[in-house]
Amino acid sequence: MKDPDRKICYCYDVSWRKLVRFARRTRPVRASQMSECLGAGTGCGWCIPVLKKIQAVASEGRDFELNMSPKEYEAQRQKYIQAKKPKNRF
Ligand code: FES
Repeated sequence: MKDPDRKICYCYDVSWRKLVRFARRTRPVRASQMSECLGAGTGCGWCIPVLKKIQAVASEGRDFELNMSPKEYEAQRQKYIQAKKPKNRF
């Protein structure tokens, strides 16, 4: 990740760096365990797909890049919230 301090969970203000360190340290077996990192994913649910990916790759010591800028990520979250569709789930 080029900017490890970028925010991933906007509801609970959790950064990429915190989530990756958590995943590497605790090696969660299930993606839902990522929520034990400062409550990430337990608000609107927008960040859950990213949490799943972090859980899958970080525990193996791998990395990946999000294919959208922080600004685009935040804008997509706003659309997700306004759409009022069923929430993303672990
Ligand atoms: S952005 Fe993570 S739960 Fe809302």
